[in-house]
Amino acid sequence: MTLDRIIITGDPLPVLTSLGDKGFQGRALEIGFGNGEFIEHMALQRPQSLFVGIEISMNCVMKAVKRVKRSNLSNVRIIMGDARFLLKERLPLEWFDKVYMNFPCPWPKKRHARRRVTASGFSDMLAGVLATGGVFELVTDDGDYAREAALSIPRNPALCLERFEADPERKVQTKYERKWLGEGKNIFLLSFLKNKGLPNPGMKKGVLELHKAFQGPCPHISVVAALKGHKGGERDARWVFRDAYASSSGVILVEALSSDEGFEQSFFFRIVPREGGCMLKVDAASRPFTTPAVSGAFQDLGSLLENREL
Ligand SMILES: C[S@@+](CC[C@H](N)C(=O)[O-])C[C@H]1O[C@@H](n2cnc3c(N)ncnc32)[C@H](O)[C@@H]1O
Repeated sequence: MTLDRIIITGDPLPVLTSLGDKGFQGRALEIGFGNGEFIEHMALQRPQSLFVGIEISMNCVMKAVKRVKRSNLSNVRIIMGDARFLLKERLPLEWFDKVYMNFPCPWPKKRHARRRVTASGFSDMLAGVLATGGVFELVTDDGDYAREAALSIPRNPALCLERFEADPERKVQTKYERKWLGEGKNIFLLSFLKNKGLPNPGMKKGVLELHKAFQGPCPHISVVAALKGHKGGERDARWVFRDAYASSSGVILVEALSSDEGFEQSFFFRIVPREGGCMLKVDAASRPFTTPAVSGAFQDLGSLLENREL
């Protein structure tokens, strides 16, 4: 497995569509793959299909990457990030035949309700990435959660509940499945069919080009450093500038932290001197997903530069 098969940062949309689907007969997505044993098993069983896994935890990503390498799988792509953002903004439309979600965190607390699979918007995201005829399979140990999902997922008219089964026979068990079965819990399997195409698929936002040139002298590091603690955005998309560093060549790095509905990214902007002015861009090495908060931070810093507030 070469590094181009492990996408742990950046924008998966062009990577998946350019090198992801050549020659594969089916495409499946697993959301929250944990230690990666399910995706490994499926990819070994179906070498002709492409398996894409999304996981938010770096620790889990490292475990899964180890497995995928050990099994020498060339049909797996691993993406580290928040599925709530990636499904909506970055995955190709109507692309997957199957989406798996095994034992999602139930997020029982009220303040975490937006993170549940039953939260509003999730069924639209699923309908967006599933091809017509594609299936979403959800397995959970939580009966209330299963019943809530059975009602909420078909809120998108393209998705209908096909199967709701307690204690199904499964060819592969995940770590959490073994844990819950070991505790004597019931397991629920739900599958939903996408039975029609999107009426108006529209366009994903795609990759934003985050760079902009400015006329006039570049700001001095002491002025940029005064931005420390500058905050912007609102509840679901917020950012803060944390620090600024200057190199001997005059390039200034601005450290930023963004948060999109709790999905946090730490990254840098670069202010690079050039003839007659300077260029603001996202630092290539720390390249974050271009979420609404990252775009907002870029615009915020850009307008401070433009208005000479720096
Ligand atoms: C209870 S574990 C289940 C892991 C695995 N599927 C299994 O059955 O053993 C839930 C997993 O979902 C991941 N997760 C939670 N929220 C996520 C999100 N928004 N995007 C991607 N992964 C997420 C967690 O990091 C965790 O690995």
